[in-house]
Formats: sequence, structure tokens, C-alpha cells
Amino acid sequence: MSQRILFVCLGNICRSPAAEGVFRARAHHHAADSAGTSDWHVGEPPYGPMQRAARARGLDLSDLRARQFIAADFDRFDLIVGMDDGNIAKIEALRPAGNATPVRLLTDFAAQTGADHVPDPYYTRDFDGALDLIETAIDGLIAYLDA
Ligand code: 4NP
Repeated sequence: MSQRILFVCLGNICRSPAAEGVFRARAHHHAADSAGTSDWHVGEPPYGPMQRAARARGLDLSDLRARQFIAADFDRFDLIVGMDDGNIAKIEALRPAGNATPVRLLTDFAAQTGADHVPDPYYTRDFDGALDLIETAIDGLIAYLDA
């Protein structure tokens, strides 16, 4: 069954657009979007260094534009996927009363890596490391959705 997945990070210019791009490229039968918990980069394309690291893997993120996560997203998606515990807390703070949409960490789908969050490459500058972890976790997420 086709599912609607929303990927969420802080700025929506590094981790969540990368996750959206990898997911779209690998899961044509599902729908995806991404958003940031902050409004810092609304309307901007993904961060240049992340776009370049993704393009080196054949992934074009240039059409994506940042937007802020809103409470209505709980009703528009079947699963919301955050990159770290800070994202999860900000997401949960907007959950409408009575809404039961699952919210998970992306790394929940990459248990074999031992990672408990996707480190923010905006700060670590390790864009390839973030993409490696995101690719592994997206494969796990797709296997979970299609099981
Ligand atoms: P992201 O990374 O949450 O993966 O998009 C960030 C991008 C920008 C900022 C923080 C995190 N910032 O402080 O502008």
C-alpha cells in the first residue's frame, strides 16, 4: 500500500531533503516530502555542500525548497520521520489532540549501524557520512513499509 512519508530536521536544508531525495529515488510507489522544525531557511534550496555531495551519488536535490513543519502535517502523512531527538520533541509539541500518526527516528530503520540519530552535517561538515547513514536507513525504512 502506498504511504505518505514526511522527513523532518532542523533547517530542512541538509538531512531531511537528502532523506526525501534518497527515498524518492528508491521508493517510487510511496510519496514523500520534507520540512524543518525551524523557519530559518524557508524557501531556500538544499545547502550547497549537501547538494554537491548528493549529486556525486547521482541525486539531484536542486528542485527542493525548505518549508517549516506545521501541525497540519500530522493529518497529511502516514509516518513522520525525524533525524534526532530534538526534532522529535519539536514535532511532538505540535501534535493535535487525538492524532495518532507515528513519529520515528530515521535511525530506527538502521539498527545495524548502532546510530541513535543522524549527526547534523551543517555542523559536523561530514556530508558523505550523513548520506551514508541516510541511504542505509532509507533502505531499512522501505523494507519496513513494504513488509
Ligand atoms: P539540517 O541542518 O537540520 O539538517 O537542515 C541545519 C541547517 C541549518 C542550520 C542548522 C541545521 N542553521 O543553523 O542554519
